[in-house]
Amino acid sequence: MPIISRRTLLKGSAAAAASFAIGGGLAARNGIAAPAPLLLKAQFTEAKLASDGITPKIMTYGTSETAATGMPPVIRMKKGEPFAARLMNALDEPTTIHWHGLRIANAMDGVPEMTQPYVYPGDGFDYAFTPPDTGTFWYHPHCNTLTQMGHGLTGVIVVEDPADPVFDAEIVLNLRDWRLGTAGAFIAPFKPRDAARGGTYGTVRTTNWKQAPSYDAPAGGLVRIRIAATDVTRIYSLAVEGAPALVIALDGNPVDAPYPLDLLDVGPGQRVELVVRMPGEEGAEVKLGNFRGSSPFTVATLRATGTPLKRDIRDVKALPANPVAEADLSTATRIPLDFTATAEHAPVPSICGTIGYTFWAINKVPWQGDTPDPGAPVSELKLGKSYVLQVRNRTPHAHPIHLHGLSFRILSSNKRTILPPPTDTILLLPDEQAELGLVADNPGDWLLHCHIIEHQKTGMSGYFRVV
Ligand code: C2O
Ligand code: CU
Repeated sequence: MPIISRRTLLKGSAAAAASFAIGGGLAARNGIAAPAPLLLKAQFTEAKLASDGITPKIMTYGTSETAATGMPPVIRMKKGEPFAARLMNALDEPTTIHWHGLRIANAMDGVPEMTQPYVYPGDGFDYAFTPPDTGTFWYHPHCNTLTQMGHGLTGVIVVEDPADPVFDAEIVLNLRDWRLGTAGAFIAPFKPRDAARGGTYGTVRTTNWKQAPSYDAPAGGLVRIRIAATDVTRIYSLAVEGAPALVIALDGNPVDAPYPLDLLDVGPGQRVELVVRMPGEEGAEVKLGNFRGSSPFTVATLRATGTPLKRDIRDVKALPANPVAEADLSTATRIPLDFTATAEHAPVPSICGTIGYTFWAINKVPWQGDTPDPGAPVSELKLGKSYVLQVRNRTPHAHPIHLHGLSFRILSSNKRTILPPPTDTILLLPDEQAELGLVADNPGDWLLHCHIIEHQKTGMSGYFRVV
């Protein structure tokens, strides 16, 4: 197996450090000081997730040299302002960080082999970029992801904008499951027969690493709730009981006009922003629940507290849109993309882990794994040109298909009447056929994969090359 040598690795880090310095210099010349990097130290911790024991060897990110406790921090960035983070690897295996949904330079995208070297235990990597869009995003490794994400490495990003409206409170919810057995210990991350179907579900369901947590919120106030579905498998169908709720943004982009939340499907990788008008009576409870499948459960409870504010949900206006270019349909090139099951092949061994099976394919090609030679791109796109991806889900399962580095708009679909704002992840429904418009305005190699990580790791991955 071709393994990147220590020498190449050091060269890679030196190059990254140099480009970091240059980035800082440019920013300084423009009058914006380069920010001090936020330390993100990937490390082991333990936590009480299950009721019958403390789970050892959970993975998390900490922001200081002292041992981290609890979930990866919510990272706050500002739209249009430089951000920097230094990943330090205190795990016992290579890792990287991918900034899901942020349209940043390819070299910062966190895909080992494709955009950066592996970050081995004891080593680090400097990320520096300027987020172009406001909204709710998230971050996670892109190496051995079924284990690293499954064991804890999923965190939420909030990109703020001074033009953002102010609400009475804001609550960020990181939704995910854990595969735990007795006494809270991790069990095998997947079952092959489930990987070949909808994916393997966790056994303990959490919100911000707690089972059905409860939060205080101002009575009669307008509360902004930012939700990120960071689980490796679960698709949620979210609803709010006990108060009116509006959907204001999906996958980091505002909806044109806020609309009442009914039941909303949210797949792995996707985000939702809601505004809830809390009841006026102190102590009244509002429940956010998952109503998918046969056993609904509470995701989080909000408790009204304090002297009632008298807000009106009709005062909630649309958020300012992000600068996502619209595809020019008169000149767009059409690219068919078929998502299918495939006959089993043996995947290539990889430093970033393989789960040993191939069940899925994009345009009949099952991804071979994260290797030095990823094979040909699904398609080569010309920088600045418009494209329409003609996606077809030829399976009876839903697939949250995520594209790195570029946002796209769902132009049409045989399965939906309401079309969401631009996105980086479409929850492709069983047998759905849709047209996705995009402008290839970010150069580089951009992964396209299912965010049910077992599907990603068993073939449902590919990439576009934008040149
Ligand atoms: Cu959320 Cu390829 O990642
Ligand atoms: Cu899938």
